[in-house]
Amino acid sequence: MLVPNMLDAAKRGKTEVKYIYENRDYKNNSSDRKYFIRTYGCQMNVHDSEEISGILESLGYTKTENYEESDFIILNTCAIRENVHDKVFGFLGRCKHLKKKNPNLLLAICGCMAQEEVVVKEIKEKYPFIDIVFGTHNINELPNMLENYYGKQKIKVYSIEGNVIEFNNHYKRDSNITAWVNIMYGCDKFCTYCIVPYTRGKQRSRKMEDIIKEIEELVHKGYNEITLLGQNVNAYGKDLKEKISFSHLLEKVSQTKIPRIRFVTSHPWDFTDEMIDVIANNPNIMPYIHLPVQSGSNKILKKMNRNYSKEEYLILFNKIKEKIKNVSITTDIIVGFPEEEEEDFLETLEVVKYCKFDGAFTFIFSPRAGTPAFKMKNTITKEEATNRLHRLNKEVNKYSKESNLKLINTVEKVLVLGTSEKNKSKVYGYTENMKLVNIEAKKDVIGKIIDVKITDAKSFSLDGEIKD
Ligand code: 5AD
Ligand code: SF4
Repeated sequence: MLVPNMLDAAKRGKTEVKYIYENRDYKNNSSDRKYFIRTYGCQMNVHDSEEISGILESLGYTKTENYEESDFIILNTCAIRENVHDKVFGFLGRCKHLKKKNPNLLLAICGCMAQEEVVVKEIKEKYPFIDIVFGTHNINELPNMLENYYGKQKIKVYSIEGNVIEFNNHYKRDSNITAWVNIMYGCDKFCTYCIVPYTRGKQRSRKMEDIIKEIEELVHKGYNEITLLGQNVNAYGKDLKEKISFSHLLEKVSQTKIPRIRFVTSHPWDFTDEMIDVIANNPNIMPYIHLPVQSGSNKILKKMNRNYSKEEYLILFNKIKEKIKNVSITTDIIVGFPEEEEEDFLETLEVVKYCKFDGAFTFIFSPRAGTPAFKMKNTITKEEATNRLHRLNKEVNKYSKESNLKLINTVEKVLVLGTSEKNKSKVYGYTENMKLVNIEAKKDVIGKIIDVKITDAKSFSLDGEIKD
């Protein structure tokens, strides 16, 4: 359904939307109001939260990391797997009592869970104390929702796939070193287990000029790295009238002279030879590819609607390894998909052994209402699925440690992002091929790309020291 005021907003375009934020007399006197935002899920959500923060700060809110002292609590949710659901409602339950202390406290749920019909029904019926619910298409509606909030639950969730309104100037980016840049929204792949095409809608690519302009501004501000974001990043442009490929976009982005370019997530189906060449030939495109395989069994890949066979994946994998120097490849794998027999799982393990991935995100299949796989007969017990996950993780961790060990005594270029969480006397950053390194160094290297000698390796990180 296309809701009229959304259409109006889309027609108004950037300038007027900006005007709404900046020239308003906000009723609740937001200048001394604090917001707290918690993000669940993927980088897309992290970046959406940056947009929400930008909007709220342009309304005069200030950010707090302590939800107990805030006036507006926003939970930006994820619907990919069931487990976030309980976390979100558990947390909101704890927030409920805070309303007694602060009657002006507003609670909001947004993001992919808010796009799920069943969740909205549940909120209406069981959680009347949640004040505001807005979907992934409705972030721009937040100022209006706040302005027109009169103490009754307000829900704005449109299942539209229409225009994308751009709020480039309103991001409150978490970092001034590395930045997310959305290049497209939604996904047309319809993998049978995945809820994303339903929560985020059809694929809509941004115009190349807008993307380049945003990146040029980031270069101007001194950013050293950008990550191009999309659920299916290398299908970029397929929905645009003027056909532009992801490789073409990558080349253009490379010419902006941003020191480091990354992109997530790539679908094997859309990975072209041209793309491999562009990555191999442009030193500011980082040699790191996240390439979800999901399963090593052709039977399961077919049931997942992944559109490639194990053999095709391996051919692509080998081509990437051969052509891109020092490339690292990570993957996503689901175990316990309906009708995954032990032989199917063993085929997945074989693929892991063959590819020796630098890392893998592994998941137990989580049935999501509304997806085709939800209705498939699930023959695997929870215990069996957990057992497969443990066996898989053991194998995955072995290879990620192996790939890290190979780096001991090498010198890597590391972009330093901040102080290490675990050890405040260290800083941390990432190598070109996306290995996390903790470094013994002074804080003045934060934000810089420095040469680091790798001194030790663990499964998930490296240790290093500045090379003299
Ligand atoms: N159950 C388990 N894992 C899933 N993923 C997506 N949907 C599901 C689901 N229903 C995983 C896929 C995807 C990653 C982001 O999350 O591996 O690549
Ligand atoms: Fe989901 Fe598949 Fe699209 Fe990835 S490619 S977002 S798994 S439907």
